[in-house]
This record gives sequence, structure tokens and C-alpha cells, in this order.
Amino acid sequence: MQITQPIRVGVVGLGQRGLQHLKVLWTLQQEGVVHITALVDAHVDNLTEDKISRYVDGFRLGLIHTSTDFFQTLKSISLDAIYFAIPPSIHKGEIVSAAQAGIHIFAEKPMSLYLNEAMEMEQEIAVNGVIATVGFQQRYDSRYEATQQFLSDKKIVMISVIMNSTLEAHSVKHTHTEKQGGPANRIWTSNYQWSGSTVVEAGIHQTDLMRYWAGDIAWVEANYVDRDSSDIVDGGDNPYAYQVTFGFASGTIGNLILSRLRKVFYGDSYNSILWTHGHLKFESDGVAAYYYEGTYPPDQTPNREKIRHLLPLTDQRNATEEISRSFVHAIATGNRKVLRSTFSSGMNSLTAVLGANLSHQLNGQRIYLDQLLTAPEFESFRQK
Ligand SMILES: NC(=O)c1ccc[n+]([C@@H]2O[C@H](COP(=O)([O-])OP(=O)(O)OC[C@H]3O[C@@H](n4cnc5c(N)ncnc54)[C@H](O)[C@@H]3O)[C@@H](O)[C@H]2O)c1
Repeated sequence: MQITQPIRVGVVGLGQRGLQHLKVLWTLQQEGVVHITALVDAHVDNLTEDKISRYVDGFRLGLIHTSTDFFQTLKSISLDAIYFAIPPSIHKGEIVSAAQAGIHIFAEKPMSLYLNEAMEMEQEIAVNGVIATVGFQQRYDSRYEATQQFLSDKKIVMISVIMNSTLEAHSVKHTHTEKQGGPANRIWTSNYQWSGSTVVEAGIHQTDLMRYWAGDIAWVEANYVDRDSSDIVDGGDNPYAYQVTFGFASGTIGNLILSRLRKVFYGDSYNSILWTHGHLKFESDGVAAYYYEGTYPPDQTPNREKIRHLLPLTDQRNATEEISRSFVHAIATGNRKVLRSTFSSGMNSLTAVLGANLSHQLNGQRIYLDQLLTAPEFESFRQK
């Protein structure tokens, strides 16, 4: 079905991410593509024009409906689409109710910390036929898009990502966690119960990118180094370090190594994608693919210039803007194919990172994702 009027959108959760979405929607509203119709946040101080305009240039509330009550808004305001950007541990059926009301859904990652809850969302989205995507905007980054195109006819054998960061590097958040039994400093991303671990909260982006290039994940094995109880400040109890191995259905192996130290203020990263006859890396001047094309075997070992190929890139775009453009385009035209991740396909990324948590709890046991979703032995892990 085609929509010819501006799409009536609501945003639920006006924190760090919701404000980034609102900024894009404000631009899309100037273009006549959307009409920002409702803003919902649990805390009234997050809904004032004064606060929002500090993040969204020129923002005016005007006639936009604001509320601290999502379900009341759903009953009283007509919407075509809703962006959900609330912490993943505190959903209370909002996405399920929106799908049942026939509203298209943009769900931020991770969609939930609990597989049963996420599967219920997935089912209601499917049953009600609504368009739904997940906030995996990195699929719209021109470097990762070029990588996907370049590797699409190659057999990837291994992808490795290492990201060392710190607890202090987490952004300050807008949820009043101090009033909800959470961290006093509001940095819920450093707390296991709120974030579901760094692998789930942040590593899901790298996991999803690996899937963008190498297809679905079949199993996961993981070992974390848990934080000493004497080393927890302001609820920042997430593990020190994480080592995760993904087994892809294609046979590719993925390695994800993350750390979040405290009192260090130093971070670095490493990445590589290996295919059968080459090596791809993200470097400061672009995406470099290292491979040899001359006569084989060569008379002498080819030098670096001969084997280093920078991939052609389209102009660097704002990935958060691109994913929204594709979501509203899918709604306006009814063409879901423009979505690089549907809610349903994103379930594999979510299951893989939640499976990493379970594998760690089971001392590194290999977890097959199809079993994690269905086997009775994992029911207690799936439940909220
Ligand atoms: N895709 C990305 O790159 C990206 C970046 C940052 C955050 N995120 C995700 O976005 C989600 C939100 O994270 P954030 O950083 O914006 O957190 P945040 O704490 O800054 O903001 C969340 C907002 O939701 C509000 N809220 C909480 N419960 C609510 C409810 N029941 N109804 C309405 N509003 C409610 C809070 O008051 C707060 O303003 C998380 O899932 C996070 O992982 C994604």
C-alpha cells in the first residue's frame, strides 16, 4: 500500500538515541516526508522544547502531542510509524501493542534482553504485516556497504574485530535509572542487568556487520572475564573483557574481542576480514583489500603497492539518516526490500549475542542458535 501524505511518526524514548532519530525526522519533516506527531518519554523533563532544542537545531514543539504514557498515546493518537529508543531491559509490551495496532516499527537494538520477549515482538510484527526494522544503521555506512559488495562473490573464511574501550567512555544517558534501582550516574550501559553485557549492548553492531558480509550465525562460544566485586563503581559491573567466537552457517568463523576497563582512559581497535585469497582492512584512508592478481606464481614477491587496492566508496553519508530514509521509503512505497535489516532478520544478531552470554555462563559451551530459540533446556534463559 502506498502512503501519499507525510508519514505520521512518533518517537518513544527521547534519550541519546531517540534525540538522534528526532534530529533526522526534523529534517525529513522539512522535506514533507514525515509529520512528527507524538513524542513519548517516561520522564517529563525529557519532553520540553528547551531540552530537545539543545539536540535538534531549530526544534519547536508546536502541536506535537507529548506524553509520559505510551499506552495512552497509542489509544488517543493516530500514527503510521513509531521509533522505539528505550533501554532494552524495560520493555512492557509497547512494540507488541504497536504491531497489533498496525503501526510500522523502528526498534532500536538490542530489541530486548530476553528472547521470549523479542520472539513475541517478531511474531506480532509478522502476524500484523507491519514493516519493521532494527537500528543497525552501520549497514548504511558507505565503507561497510562497499565491503559487502566487494565480498559478495568471495568465500569469507574469518572475520576478526578487537575493540578495547573503557567504562568511562560510555555516554551519559537520559533514563532516570537512579529512580528505578539502576546506576546513580545513569550510565546504564555499564551495568549488566540494564545492558545485558557489552557484547549485547555494543558488540551487537559488530556482530550484525559480520552477518551483513557473511550471512547468518549458526553457533556461538564465549568466555568473559567478570569484574571483581570490589571493583564496581556506580553499578558499572559489566565484565572486564569478552572473547566471543561465532560459527556462521557458511563456515566462516567470526572473532569478537571487547574490553571495558576502568581507570585506564586508553582504547584501540583492530579489524580484518579474510577471504580465501585476500585480506580486507578498514584503514585511515579507506577500505583496503590486499590481494594479488598477476601471473601465479610470481617471479618475485609482489610489493605492497601491487597488492593494496582501495575500494571505491560512495560519499560518506550519515548512516542514522540513511536508515531512517530507507524505513520511511519502505512505508511510503510498501517496498520492504530497501530495508537492509528487517526485525525478523535482526533476530539472528540478537540471538547470537544473547547466546554469547549463555555460553559464558556455561563455561564456554557451544550454543547452537536454533536450539537456543526452541530447546526446553534453555527456556529459563529465554524468559524475562
Ligand atoms: N543504533 C545505535 O547506534 C544506538 C546508539 C545509542 C543507543 N542505542 C539504543 O537505543 C536504546 C536507547 O538508548 P539511549 O542511549 O537513547 O538511552 P537513554 O537512557 O539515553 O534514553 C532512553 C530514553 O527512554 C526513556 N524511557 C525509558 N523508559 C521509557 C518508557 N517505558 N516509555 C517511554 N520512554 C521511556 C528515558 O526516559 C530516556 O529518555 C537502547 O536500546 C540503546 O542500545 C542505539
